[in-house]
Amino acid sequence: MNKERKLIIAGNWKMNKTVAEALILAQGLKRELREVKEVDVVICPPFTALESVSKEMLDSNIRLGAQNMSENNFGAFTGEIAAGMLRELSVRYVILGHSERRQYQKESDELISKKAQAAHAASLKPIVCVGETLDERESGQTEKVVETQVRGSLAGLTKDQMEESVLAYEPVWAIGTGKTATSQQAQDVHAFIRKLLVSMFDETTARRVRIQYGGSVKAQNARELMGQKDIDGALVGGASLDIRSFGDIIKNSI
Ligand code: PGA
Repeated sequence: MNKERKLIIAGNWKMNKTVAEALILAQGLKRELREVKEVDVVICPPFTALESVSKEMLDSNIRLGAQNMSENNFGAFTGEIAAGMLRELSVRYVILGHSERRQYQKESDELISKKAQAAHAASLKPIVCVGETLDERESGQTEKVVETQVRGSLAGLTKDQMEESVLAYEPVWAIGTGKTATSQQAQDVHAFIRKLLVSMFDETTARRVRIQYGGSVKAQNARELMGQKDIDGALVGGASLDIRSFGDIIKNSI
C-alpha cells in the first residue's frame, strides 16, 4: 500500500496474558512478522510482562509499548509506574488516555497532556487516544468532543514532540463491540483531526503526524480502513491477542 506516512499498527493487550502466555504470543509474532519492514509494529503487553517480552524482542523489528504511565518521574505514588522505568526495559511507546482509562480511572485531558509531556521528556513516544461515545455521535457532537480531547490532551507539546507522537482515533462505541466505524466515517474524523493539527501546530507537522484508527479492527476490515488517506495505522485490542489474527491484520495492511 502506497501511503504518505509509514503505517503504525499497535496491539493493546489490555489486562490479558500472564508472563508465560505473553512470551508465547510475542515469540509467535516475532516469527510471523520477521519479514515485515513496511509497517511499524508495536505490542503493548501488561506491565508485568514487559521485561520478559522486552528481552525476547531484542533481535526483532517489533517495538514495545506500555498501556499507561504516571505523569510524575518518581516518588510517593503507590501503584504507579514512571516513564524512566519503562525506558529501562526498552519500551518505546506508551498508550495514553485510552477510553477505558478515561472512563474507569476518570483520566482528564489535562492529566493526559501532563503524561504526554513526561513521556517525551523520557524519550517515549505517546499514543494519545481520543474518541466519542455513541450518545455523543448520535447527538451530533463528534467533532466538538474530539476537538476538546485533541486540544486538551496535546496541550503544551512542541511541534517536534507532536511529530514524534501518535494519535489514535477510537470511537468508544466501536471498541470491543464488533461494530467498526465505516471507513468513510473514520476517514472523516481523521481528516478533521489533521485539520485541527494544522491550526494547533502547522501544515508540515500535521502532515507528518500518524493517526491510527481503533475499534474492532480485524483482518477482514484492515485493508479498507488502512486504504483511507488520513488513516495511518491501527490500535488493535481483541484481535491483537492471537498470533494469526494480529499477523493477518498487518499483512493485509501492506
Ligand atoms: P478492540 O479494542 O480492537 O478490541 O475493539 C481497541 C482498543 O481498545 O484499543
